[in-house]
Amino acid sequence: AGLLAFDPGYGNTGSCQSAITFVDGEKGILRHRGIPIEQLAEKSTFIETAMLLIFGKLPSLEERAAFRGLLSEHELLHEGLLHHFDGFQPGGQPMAILSAVINSLGNYHPELLEIQSPDEFRLAVAKLISKVRTIAAFSYRKSLGLPFMYPDPNLSYCRNFLHMMFSVPNRDYEPTKAAVAALTLFLVVHADHEQNCSCSTVRMVGSTKANLFASVSSGICALWGRLHGGANAAVIQMLTEMMAGRYKVKTFLDMVKRKEKRLMGFGHRVYKNFDPRAKVLKKAADNLLLETGVSDPLMDAALELQEAALNDDYFKSRKLYPNVDFYSGIILRALGIPVNMFPVMFAIGRLPGWIAHWHEENRDVATRIHRPRQIYTGPARRPYVPLDQR
Ligand code: CMC
Repeated sequence: AGLLAFDPGYGNTGSCQSAITFVDGEKGILRHRGIPIEQLAEKSTFIETAMLLIFGKLPSLEERAAFRGLLSEHELLHEGLLHHFDGFQPGGQPMAILSAVINSLGNYHPELLEIQSPDEFRLAVAKLISKVRTIAAFSYRKSLGLPFMYPDPNLSYCRNFLHMMFSVPNRDYEPTKAAVAALTLFLVVHADHEQNCSCSTVRMVGSTKANLFASVSSGICALWGRLHGGANAAVIQMLTEMMAGRYKVKTFLDMVKRKEKRLMGFGHRVYKNFDPRAKVLKKAADNLLLETGVSDPLMDAALELQEAALNDDYFKSRKLYPNVDFYSGIILRALGIPVNMFPVMFAIGRLPGWIAHWHEENRDVATRIHRPRQIYTGPARRPYVPLDQR
């Protein structure tokens, strides 16, 4: 035990070998299967990026069309699964609903609990990627007490999701081009980020040979926390409090420096100069607000806060910069997505990454079960004291 390396939070531990995503935190580089995130953000769609991550290469036209066909085929939920939504009280947390229903999804496809072939894997992937947006949208409708809006197989992935979220009987929601483009970009930018906490969770659970649905469900729970996928909602909460006059920027940053508060949407374990995803999203948020003609006062508050932090020695010396969550909330707000759905949106985006990593973990039979060690700090040996003598 004396030889164990103490590495709290695994900041210096390579837990696996992976060929999926490359990150260089010093240079601000993020590439999926070798392709820079900036190029994917500009040119790709979410489904194509998902296929790149999961199957290892950009699909041909035919491959993409075939996969889109599979997604349409599997977009509905089993009637039995729909009853799960009734078990949650109105106003229930969409993340809780998402993780529970995704886990239960496996029960409705027992043949996919032990994936034996590439075709079975492909089917499981299509089911998950397609149904996750149905589950997410239904959880939102349920939380408002609105009837479910069923998916429309003629719509693209992002449009279909917005339709299920916002259409009402006899009136289809017609998103603008800019809105669809912004949602696509949001999902592409979130698609994978190597061994982050939720991905490592999926790999850890998957390393026990737990099924794909259960492993992904555990990833959703890991993502929920405000230091990870919950940060996008926490940023909006922080900015709203500042706008409401609860804190001035300087007072707030002073509290952060005294460690009474955390500057949400800032800092990253790996990125120490800038987060390339934040750059892309900031630009997209600007464009979306410009094109829709909507001005969001939170954007101004975000800029003021960012400016002050970037010029402050506390943040400079610790290399703290805006991360992906600093601007993503502004985009989601402009799309009309409520704040408690923000982490769910992150989960829909991150799903391809989780699947790709689960597959990498499971395809390689030589992978070992994840089982870190510890540095024990508890009491030394001592005798059991009977109850009447305590
Ligand atoms: N606000 C104030 N101080 C911070 C922050 C922050 N956001 N982030 C790091 N620090 C400080 C930290 O207190 C420490 O200071 P000191 O040396 O005085 O103790 C120093 O910077 C180094 O930080 P760390 O704790 O070693 O950082 P970490 O790698 O363990 O944590 C993080 C990374 C992302 C959890 C953290 O930066 C954080 O809590 N950020 C706010 C939450 C957030 O925006 N999360 C989203 C991350 S990006 C998308 C995702 O993965 O979900």
